[in-house]
Amino acid sequence: MACRGRRPEHSGPPEVFYNKNEAGKYMRNSRMIDIQTKMAERALELLSLPEGQPCYLLDVGCGSGLSGDYLSDEGHYWVGIDISPDMLDAALDRDTEGDLLLGDMGQGIPFKPGSFDGCISISAVQWLCNANKKSDVPARRLYCFFSSLYSALARGARAVLQLYPENSEQLELITAQATKAGFTGGVVVDYPNSAKAKKFYLCLFSGPSSIVPKGLNECTDGGEERESTFTNERAPYRTARRRVVRKSRDWVLEKKERRRRQGKEVRPDTQYTGRKRKPRF
Ligand SMILES: C[S@@+](CC[C@H](N)C(=O)[O-])C[C@H]1O[C@@H](n2cnc3c(N)ncnc32)[C@H](O)[C@@H]1O
Repeated sequence: MACRGRRPEHSGPPEVFYNKNEAGKYMRNSRMIDIQTKMAERALELLSLPEGQPCYLLDVGCGSGLSGDYLSDEGHYWVGIDISPDMLDAALDRDTEGDLLLGDMGQGIPFKPGSFDGCISISAVQWLCNANKKSDVPARRLYCFFSSLYSALARGARAVLQLYPENSEQLELITAQATKAGFTGGVVVDYPNSAKAKKFYLCLFSGPSSIVPKGLNECTDGGEERESTFTNERAPYRTARRRVVRKSRDWVLEKKERRRRQGKEVRPDTQYTGRKRKPRF
């Protein structure tokens, strides 16, 4: 597995890297917003939750709440945990709907057994592979995270963790600790042949082993590289997602289109789609 450029995980502890300046980018940089939203969309798809049922989800490394916003848009309730106070402040400033908790996943997820119907995590878990203190043992921190996550999930629930492993040894370390904690599952690789768009989703099952979904193959948008925070401050217009106003007609049409792509049954679009209803008294 190739490792290009400088990785954020090499720059020190996450709570130092994700400072006010970095958190600001998650609020303003449209490319960052777009990538987080798309990866959250894919993670939710891989969770395979029951259709049309609001679920109670955990977002590990929830940061500024962009991924959580996607969960809210899809009608779910969520709790986010993150180690960076500045990222959580950004989530508060953005008025995200989820509940937020300051915490280090490497010390365990502090929730009652069976609390969640599912868990997502976007670009966070690879941070556990780096030791920032003498006392940090990556394998131990990973095991602590996975075993507490296993317990916090309802039996049979899934966790889908998008991550950026530095090399194949790191991916093996992560999956070995997840297996030791009791999970079954595997790694879904989307766009394996695109250096830029390739993405890893660790799909974990807390119940009996199940079939791991297939990765996506066709990449039509030229690919999106990891949200590098060292370069590319401004989004190239080509990849920037239009910020669509929530609950607007465009928002509803986009959502319906996404569901059609996922093979779900969706009512046809009409002139009434997304039209505001008059308040009833
Ligand atoms: C790429 S950001 C994810 C952004 C988030 N999905 C969003 O919508 O803003 C990765 C996040 O993982 C968090 N993180 C890294 N190591 C962590 C740890 N040990 N415990 C909790 N959160 C951690 C960082 O603070 C950062 O907010």
